[in-house]
Amino acid sequence: MEEIWINSAEEMVSFGETFTKRLSEGTCVAIVGNLGAGKTHFTKGVCQGLGNADSSSPTFTLVNEVMTESLTVYHFDFYRIKHIEELYDLGWDDYLDKGGVVIAEWADLYPELFPAGTIWLKIEHHEDRRRVLIKVV
Ligand SMILES: Nc1ncnc2c1ncn2[C@@H]1O[C@H](COP(=O)(O)OP(=O)(O)OP(=O)(O)O)[C@@H](O)[C@H]1O
Ligand SMILES: [Mg+2]
Repeated sequence: MEEIWINSAEEMVSFGETFTKRLSEGTCVAIVGNLGAGKTHFTKGVCQGLGNADSSSPTFTLVNEVMTESLTVYHFDFYRIKHIEELYDLGWDDYLDKGGVVIAEWADLYPELFPAGTIWLKIEHHEDRRRVLIKVV
């Protein structure tokens, strides 16, 4: 388990940018953290780090596909998903096989979806600081 402290929203984006060195085709990143923890900021940083200049976090329903210069990012948010079947119907297993990077916010709602080797990020609030715990499961 690794632990990293993040002191601002900008730093969370930079953390996402440098995190890209850990990503390759098929990597899954499962993010856990409360409302406003910084999950979307992190994901924005990942997309920027992979070469997507325009990764302003748009609102999306279930999955946002972000094309970058290298890997495509499939950004899921499970917050509004009421049944796991919605994700299977959407083609979750196919997304895992597309050769991009799958990133999911609120991953702890459906932890059984993630394959072995998934990078789990747990983000904890400490006022304006965030403590990020990283482990591969
Ligand atoms: N150290 C920090 N790291 C990340 N975000 C921070 C930090 N300090 C303050 N913030 C603020 O916290 C908020 C994080 O928002 P963000 O949308 O990334 O969270 P989220 O985890 O995706 O929330 P949600 O569960 O609603 O999707 C932003 O308003 C950001 O400015
Ligand atoms: Mg979010």
